[in-house]
Amino acid sequence: MNTVKATLLLLACTLSLHAQKGKNDKKIKPKKEFVAELMAKMTVDEKIAQTVQYTADGTVTGPKTGINYIDEIKKGNVGSILNATGVKYTNMLQKLNLENSRLKIPLIFGYDVIHGYKTIFPITLGEAATWDLSAVELSARVAAAEAAANGVHWTFAPMVDISRDPRWGRVSEGSGEDTYLGTQLAVARVKGFQGNDLASINTVMACTKHFAAYGAAEAGRDYNTVDMSERTLREMYLPPFKATVDAGVGSFMTSFNEIAGVPATASKFLLTDILKKEWGFDGFVVTDYTAINELIPHGVAKDSAQAGELALKAGVDMDMVGGIYMKNLKKLLKEGKVTEAQINDACRRVLEAKYDLGLFENPYRYNDEKREKEVTYKKEHLDAALDVAKKSMVLLKNSNNVLPLHKEQKVAFVGPLVNDEWNIIGSWAASGDRYGYAVSVQEGVNKIITDKSKVTFDKGVEIIDSRRDMMKAALDNARKADVIVAVMGEFENMSGEAASRTDIDLPGIQKEFLSELKKLGKPVVLVLMNGRPLTLTWENENMDAILEAWFPGTMGGDAIAQTLYGLNVPSGKLPMTFPRNVGQVPIYYNHKNTGRPYLGAGDPEQKYKSRYIDVDNSPLYPFGYGLSYTKFDYSNLKLSSQTLNYSTKIKVSVDVANEGNFDGEEVVQLYIQDEVGSVTRPVKELKGFKKVFLKKGEKKTVEFEITADDLRFYNIDMKFVAEPGDFKVFIGGDSATKLQDKFVLVN
Ligand code: NOJ
Repeated sequence: MNTVKATLLLLACTLSLHAQKGKNDKKIKPKKEFVAELMAKMTVDEKIAQTVQYTADGTVTGPKTGINYIDEIKKGNVGSILNATGVKYTNMLQKLNLENSRLKIPLIFGYDVIHGYKTIFPITLGEAATWDLSAVELSARVAAAEAAANGVHWTFAPMVDISRDPRWGRVSEGSGEDTYLGTQLAVARVKGFQGNDLASINTVMACTKHFAAYGAAEAGRDYNTVDMSERTLREMYLPPFKATVDAGVGSFMTSFNEIAGVPATASKFLLTDILKKEWGFDGFVVTDYTAINELIPHGVAKDSAQAGELALKAGVDMDMVGGIYMKNLKKLLKEGKVTEAQINDACRRVLEAKYDLGLFENPYRYNDEKREKEVTYKKEHLDAALDVAKKSMVLLKNSNNVLPLHKEQKVAFVGPLVNDEWNIIGSWAASGDRYGYAVSVQEGVNKIITDKSKVTFDKGVEIIDSRRDMMKAALDNARKADVIVAVMGEFENMSGEAASRTDIDLPGIQKEFLSELKKLGKPVVLVLMNGRPLTLTWENENMDAILEAWFPGTMGGDAIAQTLYGLNVPSGKLPMTFPRNVGQVPIYYNHKNTGRPYLGAGDPEQKYKSRYIDVDNSPLYPFGYGLSYTKFDYSNLKLSSQTLNYSTKIKVSVDVANEGNFDGEEVVQLYIQDEVGSVTRPVKELKGFKKVFLKKGEKKTVEFEITADDLRFYNIDMKFVAEPGDFKVFIGGDSATKLQDKFVLVN
């Protein structure tokens, strides 16, 4: 059993000890009955209050509204508060609320717990690079346990936005470009956050966001316009959302963008027709931050009343921060513009969520200061964060096996992130502490290397500003070393919300410093921390090794140091394509063929093909790519049959051999191409993956199954079907694999 699985099991046991409900719980009626009886007593104003959420003084991520949440709570006008955390604070607000709520309806506290609460795990994109569902579930479970122990009921995660554009800063918060991988990870996260019982004191309600297609913002600019076909929307962008509904997610968040002219927050098509009716979602829908107000600048509402009307009719149940529902719903009801049934439905959904969380049984069940202390930063949580961080490391290059380093080598560690405790935990790190808590690379290395004459640490340059006065000292030490390790990247806040970039090179003068280091003639290893794919063409040509560490979290420095010194063998694989230059963006592996596909340098026709004249079509590093210190060989691809029908299966098997000198894990990936369809189909689509551990010299047969269900898509009539015909199967260690076979789907 691998370490993450073992930790998961252990945590499941310890957490379930705490899973019993609070001691002071009241006995109450079953949900539907309880909520119906409560609503029968509620006035319209009280019902509207349940649809209102205001922010406390914590992290503010949007325009200021001037609304004082304390005053509003005192007026009994609030159903939910975001950005209030900690047992003391939430306890105080809950008390204030209950004293002012005629029917004693508790508040629900929401917070962005994205990749950990206090114990911070790698950023979501880094977690996706693990391709390890148990690891990701574990991360969400730990985050939930810590958040719930700190008075939080509800997290605004998972973010399941597929994105093919690394300019968009929020790729750091998602699982990358692929629908299949993204769907599996979305479900793992919901399971981790919610567990089996929302009322347990170690789970939180999850919120799938941002519905929908936010990751397709034009030119990667945050909040920008989205326009796409319904086919692409349903096939590429919606599946992770749908999967979380099937996994029982409690809430959904709308997105800021418009799609085909309709802002998502006013989209009846998305919120009611698809989410609530077609998928049968019975949780509640919250907007993103002031997203109802933003219907005015979007240009679909002339004033706040019209914005509120559009949102409620579309299916929005809770107004985040903007105050539009509070200001307008009663008036809209009087004018006959919205119905009481619409308000009732929104209110019922919110109350039912509060019921599920156990808040009616005991509104203070998550408010235990002793538990808060015990659970936060527990040793098991830090161990789990280290495990997951180690699994997220992606080795992009390793010429002449410069990695792993040996303890006897003299190593010069340089770069702005070498002794960093701030950026290493990444953006959107909730309540995660930085200085004094996060392990830096320097600290991690010092734990491994006891002979201090073997290592030096110098900053050399900053991330962004171009001061050069520290460079000389760093170069002097580097000159005396056997190997140079440069730890570089982005500031944590260069990715995340409102952090789009048009230039995705290493920022500042870091590259200039790297070229100075290279001139010393020593092997140079580049360790990267960043929240998105970067353009690394120069680095790939000039560095000896490159390790992509993302922002690896609280234990990040240990994870990186252990990987550099071979105590961890990297096994991460890219969840997003790395372009050669930004002009190739959007670039993704499951693109269409076009009518004039370019066959590469050997293509006899170079002109009039779908290609660039200044750079190859291929990416620098493809989706699914990642090296190891060992070497895996794939052979003997076999299909149990060359024919599939609608009720049979094909077994696909492949032998994977570890032919190198280290034990290691490999993510075996299976892709399919539908060669001819009633509409054009991608050149390849991920349909399965398995992570296998192989001792050195070991060989294993890895098996997959294919059924007609795996081949479904929206055909020319927008029916979700598998069409008979020829298919290719590819297996390998990344999406560029050529190892393939064929089969036919017959009626
Ligand atoms: C805006 C972000 O888009 C969303 O992801 C987040 O959950 C909310 N702010 C609340 O902080």
